[in-house]
Amino acid sequence: MDALEMLLQRRSIPRLAAPAPSGDVLENIIQAGLRAPDHGALTPWQFVICEGEGLTRLSTILADAAQTNGADEAAIEKARNAPLRAPMVVAVIARTRPHDKVPTIEQHISAGCATQAMQMAAVAQGFQGFWRTGAFAYHPAVREALSVEGDDQIVGFLYLGTPDCAPANAPKRDTSKFVTYL
Ligand SMILES: Cc1cc2nc3c(=O)[nH]c(=O)nc-3n(C[C@H](O)[C@H](O)[C@H](O)COP(=O)(O)O)c2cc1C
Repeated sequence: MDALEMLLQRRSIPRLAAPAPSGDVLENIIQAGLRAPDHGALTPWQFVICEGEGLTRLSTILADAAQTNGADEAAIEKARNAPLRAPMVVAVIARTRPHDKVPTIEQHISAGCATQAMQMAAVAQGFQGFWRTGAFAYHPAVREALSVEGDDQIVGFLYLGTPDCAPANAPKRDTSKFVTYL
């Protein structure tokens, strides 16, 4: 697919089927993330791939977090099932460090860029993705389970898999509403 066309037509697909990306395709997805813009060459990224038993572990982490919230059984089950909407979830973590020229927010933004680069690399190879956070990305129990401390942040759970339907149309937006000239 033409790169510009891919960007202009980009949509997310919320339900993704097996197979998940693997082998060279998965390697390309990770490599695309590792090419994210990175002020100061701090490489502030970590990707936790959850597939198979790993996905079950992520389910348990989210269900346990819901339980610590005092959620009812239905909400706990919803949390448990959340990661199962795709055969693979990549938790993208901004691993930050103090730097006199690169504020933490820039390191978070870089991890966000990595997330979209990975999503687009999946699309470029015939797969699809959906970027989610939800309250659990900020939940102390989830952070602890993924060893996320201090200024570090889970910037997204990137759901990856095979699209089982065509993406929705990508409506063209009116640039004049978003653009001004100085
Ligand atoms: C940081 C971030 C977090 C997001 N978290 C969620 C989420 O938790 N749940 C959700 O439905 N969409 C979430 N989204 C939005 C979806 O990924 C998606 O972009 C949105 O549904 C619009 O669909 P589209 O990508 O096809 O335009 C998030 C997007 C970003 C950038």
